[in-house]
Amino acid sequence: MAADYEAFKRKLKGTIGLDLNYYKQQQMQRRINQWLQRVGAASYDEYIKVLQRDAEERERFTGYLTINTSQFYRDVTVFREIEDKVLPDLVQRFRRLRVWSAGCSTGPEIYTIAMLLEELTPGTRHTLLGTDFDVGALEQAEEAVYSENLLNSLPAKYKKRYFTHEGRMWRLSDTIRDRVRFKRQNLLEDPFETNFHLILCRNVFIYFTQEAQVRLTKKFSDSLVSGGYFIVGNAENLLEPEMADLKRVSYCIYQRV
Ligand SMILES: C[S@@+](CC[C@H](N)C(=O)[O-])C[C@H]1O[C@@H](n2cnc3c(N)ncnc32)[C@H](O)[C@@H]1O
Repeated sequence: MAADYEAFKRKLKGTIGLDLNYYKQQQMQRRINQWLQRVGAASYDEYIKVLQRDAEERERFTGYLTINTSQFYRDVTVFREIEDKVLPDLVQRFRRLRVWSAGCSTGPEIYTIAMLLEELTPGTRHTLLGTDFDVGALEQAEEAVYSENLLNSLPAKYKKRYFTHEGRMWRLSDTIRDRVRFKRQNLLEDPFETNFHLILCRNVFIYFTQEAQVRLTKKFSDSLVSGGYFIVGNAENLLEPEMADLKRVSYCIYQRV
């Protein structure tokens, strides 16, 4: 079984482009086994053959593997800190910002930043980037139509100002939608853009091995300007932040020294 899984991982990298060696093994293997049961595949080998010939199944499987849970203004305490301290500090020092949501899923995180910046600096053209591995999530991000539960933590004034009701869904205003550029990127393999004032990589590190986390922390830090911020998820503590020239300023918010 262990040898079969190793072979599956190798073939999967060639098929969907994701190297599972950088993901926490137990958690990932458990999820994959559950999926195989769900789709009725008898073995890893049988399922890899399905993936190799069926593009739609590849997309479904990638969507399942990558876990797209997200929300606007997710983790209210952290977003209050971003709204009240991080963004005001950055616009005061740099005026026009470059912000990146790495592992942006369907877009709520980077769109929340776009709304907060519109409040703070109306009409200013900041550069806002969202990247993710999952093409399906990026398509939804570009469409910017969301179900109610993704807006539960968003303060009512923003919901009122930037969304319109469409059936059972909520459509984000074009003003905010058009501020953000989305791009497919594998954080574990692809080069990073640079000169960001703020990078959010939230609820992504939890899936990665410690070795991958340390390597990526350094790469993220190298993509920040001096004095820029790096924000991870609430449950994620950076390992060895000082080795990457980052100091913790509050909660899960770090600043490049
Ligand atoms: C749980 S979501 C987090 C979404 C958002 N950052 C938030 O906190 O609300 C994790 C995202 O990381 C993405 N992801 C996982 N591995 C990735 C990789 N190697 N490269 C880029 N994105 C990845 C997934 O596709 C998924 O959309």
